[in-house]
Amino acid sequence: MALLDPSFSDPLSLPDIGRKLLPHTPFEALATTRTVRRRLDPERPVDMESILRALGYAGQAPTGGASIRAHFVVVTDPGTRAELGEHYRRVWNARYGEFLEAARSEAARRGEKAPSDLESAAHLAANMGRMPVHVVACVDTAGRSMDGNQASLWGSVLPAAWSYMLAVRSLGLASAWTTVLLDAEQEVAELLELPESVRIGAVLPTAHPLGEGFRPARRDNWAAHIHDERW
Ligand SMILES: Cc1cc2nc3c(=O)[nH]c(=O)nc-3n(C[C@H](O)[C@H](O)[C@H](O)COP(=O)(O)O)c2cc1C
Repeated sequence: MALLDPSFSDPLSLPDIGRKLLPHTPFEALATTRTVRRRLDPERPVDMESILRALGYAGQAPTGGASIRAHFVVVTDPGTRAELGEHYRRVWNARYGEFLEAARSEAARRGEKAPSDLESAAHLAANMGRMPVHVVACVDTAGRSMDGNQASLWGSVLPAAWSYMLAVRSLGLASAWTTVLLDAEQEVAELLELPESVRIGAVLPTAHPLGEGFRPARRDNWAAHIHDERW
């Protein structure tokens, strides 16, 4: 079967859905749920009802072998958030700090700004601990080996985490998909008292969005990622 023209996958060609605060259709939610970092509002409290409602939808995500292995730890305590934020800042700086400085110097030399994606990540690293809610998506390995088929393990939590992000977007909130904190997974596991068999899949800071709405992402060569029958 020949594939359809993959321009179907160019959400930029959809009618103007860019600037709405709330998506009105599932397709709008799918096309405008972004990793939000600079536009997370650290000041405005988030009501727990929205978080729990979003986690309710996360619970509808696929489960492997009909067993629920996904767990979500919701962190709102200011002291715990600050500690998480401090771990995040430390590991982010260890990983990207020098790179950021080099990119900033190079950009300044050319009279330009450092890449926006990097500055967004740096902004989140500096402000992670201030975000009102952190949702930590975990999977219970139930003591099974982490070798071999990783897909069934992570497939048991990552779709649920993405459903959570789509749901909070649909409720007028924003979140960011982050994993760099896994560089301090042991420290985070101790802080959150995770059982030994539990691994972290993503950390999702969640807040009210600043600004008006979200645009679809640019995915310039997406068609090249769609393969007809064989790669
Ligand atoms: C698996 C995964 C892990 C990520 N981890 C982090 C992270 O730890 N910190 C961060 O600032 N952004 C993180 N991001 C965001 C990406 O680095 C990227 O900047 C962002 O997703 C681009 O935005 P877009 O997805 O809206 O195109 C992550 C994204 C994914 C999918």
